[in-house]
Amino acid sequence: RLLIIDFGSQVTQLIARRLRELNVYCEIHPYQNVTDAFLAEFAPKAVIFSGGPDSVMRDGSPRPPKSVYDLGVPILGICYGQQVMMHDLGGRVEAGEHATAEFGRAFVTPSEDRIDLLTGWFMDGSGREQVWMSHGDHVAEIAPGFSVYGTSPGAPFAITADEDRKFYAVQFHPEVHHTPNGKTIYENFVRAAGFSGDWTMGAYREEAIRKIREQVGDKQVICGLSGGVDSSVAAVLIHEAIGDQLTCVFVDHGLLRLNEADEVVKMFRDHYNIPLIHADESELFLGELDGVSDPETKRKIIGRLFIDVFQKHANSIDGAEFLAQGTLYPDVIESVSFSGGPSVTIKSHHNVGGLPEKMGLKLVEPLRELFKDEVRALGRELGLPDSFIGRHPFPGPGLAIRCPGEITREKLEILRKADAVYIDQIRKHGLYDDIWQAFVAILPVRTVGVMGDGRTYDFACALRAVTSVDGMTADYYPFSHDFLGETATRIINEVRGINRVTYDVTSKPPGTIEWE
Ligand code: XMP
Repeated sequence: RLLIIDFGSQVTQLIARRLRELNVYCEIHPYQNVTDAFLAEFAPKAVIFSGGPDSVMRDGSPRPPKSVYDLGVPILGICYGQQVMMHDLGGRVEAGEHATAEFGRAFVTPSEDRIDLLTGWFMDGSGREQVWMSHGDHVAEIAPGFSVYGTSPGAPFAITADEDRKFYAVQFHPEVHHTPNGKTIYENFVRAAGFSGDWTMGAYREEAIRKIREQVGDKQVICGLSGGVDSSVAAVLIHEAIGDQLTCVFVDHGLLRLNEADEVVKMFRDHYNIPLIHADESELFLGELDGVSDPETKRKIIGRLFIDVFQKHANSIDGAEFLAQGTLYPDVIESVSFSGGPSVTIKSHHNVGGLPEKMGLKLVEPLRELFKDEVRALGRELGLPDSFIGRHPFPGPGLAIRCPGEITREKLEILRKADAVYIDQIRKHGLYDDIWQAFVAILPVRTVGVMGDGRTYDFACALRAVTSVDGMTADYYPFSHDFLGETATRIINEVRGINRVTYDVTSKPPGTIEWE
C-alpha cells in the first residue's frame, strides 16, 4: 500500500482519488501521526508528500520523520512536499518573492538533455506542458543526487528526480484538473514502485468495513436516512460491518415524492433487513407549515422540526454512541488544522448540523474520502439498484420548496402526481441520465382553461430540468418541442387539478435550480 503524508494541502484528497483511478490502494495520514514507529508498522511500498500551506524555512514547520528516506521505497514530493524533500536531503529553499511566486496556470519545459525521458514520463513531445502551480517559496538549490528535468518561469526546479533512489519531486500539482497530463506522473510513479494496479472498489469496501468495526467496537450506531444516495450507501455499508448494532431513523416529513417513503422503508427494512424507525411525522410538519408562505420561514421550520424529531427517535435507541453520516469529501473543507495541533477539522453535514455535539454522539463517516461518482460505484458494489444509485438529487426540505406560497395537502397531492408523470416521460425518452435534476413545481395561481365542453379553473405548474456538474451553476435542458408538448398533454390528462403546463428556461445564475 501507498502512504500519502498530508502536510495540509486543500487538494490532498485529489491525490488519493488519482491513485484509486489507477487501482492503487493508498491511505492519507496527517504528518503529525507519521512517526518512526508508524512508518515501520505501515511499511509503505511508496510514499507521497502532499503540498501544504506552511514554509519549510519556518522553525517547527511540518516534516516527515527522517527515517522515511531510509525505507528504500520511491518517494514523490509535491509542492511543499518537494521543498521538504530538498531541505531534508541537503538542498536549499528560498522564500518567495513576487517575481518567483506562481499561482495558477504555468508551463513547464523540459531540460535539454532530459527531453526523451520526460516525454516518456509526462509530456507529449510538444516540449511544453501545462501545469498548475501554487507556491510562494521555491527550491533554490537541489539536493545532492538529484537532477533537473523540467523548469518553469518561476520554478527553475519544477521537475527533479534522483533516479537511483527513485525520489521524485515536482513544484506543481499533478493531481489537479488543470495539470491535464498529471495522471501520467502518478501512473509512472506507481509503476516505478511496483504496484500492479489490481485494487478495486470491492477492496475498498472490505477496508471500510474493517475500519468501521475498529471504530465502533460493540457500540450502537444511529444513522439518519434521507432516501438519498449518500446516506443510503453509508447505511448499507455500516450495516454490513456491524449488523444490528445499526439503527436507521428515517424522518418522513410528509414532503416526499409519490411512493417514496414506502420505497425507502421497503428497501431498507425488507430487502436489507436493517432496523429502521419510520418516523412518520407528516402531521407535525404540515401542521406547523400551515399558512406559511415565506421560503426562508418554511426552511427554518423544517430544519428545526427535523432536528427535534430525529433527536426524539434517536433517544429511544439504548446506548447509542455514534451517529453515522454520509458526508462526502467535497463536504470536508479542511484536512489538517495547523492552529490546533493534530486535530482534524471538518464541516458537519448540513442536514443534521450541530446534532452530534448536541446529543453527545461521535461521528462515523465512512464516505469522507470519496467523491460522488465513487460513492455511486461503492453503492453498486454493495448491490444497490442502478435506478436508485443514479437518482437525481432531492433537497432536504423536499416538496416544500417546490410549492411556492402556502403548502396544502391538496397541492402536494397534485404535485406528486404531476412529478411522477414528468419523470416517467423523461425515463421513457431515455433522458434521465443526461439531466442533473428534473422536477415539477406547482404554482400558486389558478388559471382558466377549457376541457371537453366545460370551463376549468385549476393550478398551473412549471417543469424544471437542468444540466449541471455540481449544482453550483446550471443550464436548462433543451427538450424538443415534441417532448414538451407530449408531456404537457399527459400531465393535464392524467393529473386532476392542473390545466396549464409551462417550461422554466432560466439558467443558474440568475435563477436557482429549486423555486425557493
Ligand atoms: P439551488 O436551488 O440552490 O439548489 O440552485 C442547488 C442544489 O441543492 C439542492 N438543494 C438542497 N439540498 N438541502 C439539501 O439537501 C437543502 O436545503 C437544499 N436546497 C437546495 C437542490 O435540489 C439542487 O440540487
